[in-house]
Amino acid sequence: MSHQTVIVLDFGGQYNQLIARRVRECGVYCEVKPYTTPLAELRAMEPIGIIFTGGPGSVYEDGSPTVDRSIFTWGVPILGICYGCQLMAHLLGGRVTAAQRDSAREYGKTETHFDTRCRLFRGLPETGTTWMSHGDYMEQVPEGFALAARSAACPNVAVADEARGFYGVQFHPEVNHTRHGTDMIRNFLYEACHAAGDWTMEDYKRTAVAALRDKIGGGRVLLALSGGVDSSVAAALLAEAVGEQLTCVFVDHGLMRKNEGDEVEAAFSKWALNFVRVNAGARFLTKLAGVTEPERKRKIIGEEFVRVFEEEAKKVGAVDYLAQGTIYPDVIESGAGDAAVIKSHHNVGGLPDCVEFKEIVEPLRLLFKDEVRQLGRELGLPEYLVMRQPFPGPGLAIRIIGEVTKEKLDMLREADAIFREELAKAGEDKHLSQFFAALTNIRSVGVMGDGRTYDYAVALRAVTTDDFMTADWARIPYDLLDRVSTRVVNEVRGINRVLLDITSKPPATIEWE
Ligand code: XMP
Repeated sequence: MSHQTVIVLDFGGQYNQLIARRVRECGVYCEVKPYTTPLAELRAMEPIGIIFTGGPGSVYEDGSPTVDRSIFTWGVPILGICYGCQLMAHLLGGRVTAAQRDSAREYGKTETHFDTRCRLFRGLPETGTTWMSHGDYMEQVPEGFALAARSAACPNVAVADEARGFYGVQFHPEVNHTRHGTDMIRNFLYEACHAAGDWTMEDYKRTAVAALRDKIGGGRVLLALSGGVDSSVAAALLAEAVGEQLTCVFVDHGLMRKNEGDEVEAAFSKWALNFVRVNAGARFLTKLAGVTEPERKRKIIGEEFVRVFEEEAKKVGAVDYLAQGTIYPDVIESGAGDAAVIKSHHNVGGLPDCVEFKEIVEPLRLLFKDEVRQLGRELGLPEYLVMRQPFPGPGLAIRIIGEVTKEKLDMLREADAIFREELAKAGEDKHLSQFFAALTNIRSVGVMGDGRTYDYAVALRAVTTDDFMTADWARIPYDLLDRVSTRVVNEVRGINRVLLDITSKPPATIEWE
């Protein structure tokens, strides 16, 4: 694919994915590469710019992450962030030491003054907040570098050698706490690297379709479609590329939300592909009968999923390619970079063992989530599929406390649909990262008309989060909650009480199980 590339050279910082996302948001393609990548490999990528990321080390310690000095002779602009800035200073003859005074260490939001003559800060306000997190200090700036920003504690918050296109910032422009941080990254890309801004999903679609046709030829492809954004967009892209050579197996485990299965099926009717929907709800319910322990539920569902998928795959016969909706954060988090592995990812059910295939194709491997959504739109998938919130593989089973039964599933589906519908009607859903109803195992006394009820309590859960590792409970307007509550107890038989979950993560998790 012919587009300009920026390399994000990963020294193990915690925000490295965010740097890459910001670069892509600016319309420039980039890849995160570990600092241990052979220099020849990096050079062969013909980067128009390089960004050194932050990292936990100190440049003056033995064995701390580094890069061969010759990278500075390529004539390619480099932006060093935090550790990356100090490393650049260190390698180019400056001096970096541990900050002696506490006041020279900076953590958190810091008022910063910028020299707006510097390309990095061109067109931006002269003062602003930056997000700092460094205990080291550039005691001496390398030759050729000028000071480009300062704070009360530090005279060289940013340094620049404009002639060579080298820039260093001790703060993190990639995080939201730094005002105009993305503008600084954009300035680096467009003012220093002279980027053309040639990374768009329209282009990506065209080149990816061509590349998939090229690779797959007349081969047959099998994809497990879960209905989530990633597998749906992967399916749409493959459908566009190879149409009837693709078979999508959609295992409907009966634990989906209201109408979800039909919506997924409808979305793919526009392509001439082989779409197999397996209605396996009864099978899953039988396996789940009497099971109350959350981890056992997950395990049973995961195993049954693989079993059903394998049975269907066998009917399809030997295939050449097994397609997966792996996306770039999965690739980076699984240890391609140097940052600590946060969790091991697996798609619904994991990889089937006894399905014969020659190779795996992962057409979204290089895309971030927002890019995947954009690509989905380019491919003509409906907005409700493209913007679908994360939905756990085990589905509603982990939103029903205690045993999962058909009656409880029906109740929860209705209550959940009402909650989602009212949020959407009020436009509140746009501000939320995830929202759903969970059915508790509590029954309580109520009164309806003249009669006593003894029914279930449902809990409403809505959170905002950037990364799903931490989350805050969402402040939903009372009148909206009132409408949901009234509708749920009136419209859903078996529920007579509505609760609101006002716990953040941590200490709670987003899901109830
Ligand atoms: P928790 O509940 O751990 O959830 O705060 C964090 C995010 O992960 C989703 N989640 C899952 N996704 N399979 C999935 O594919 C699972 O088993 C699973 N469990 C939780 C959850 O919906 C939230 O977005």
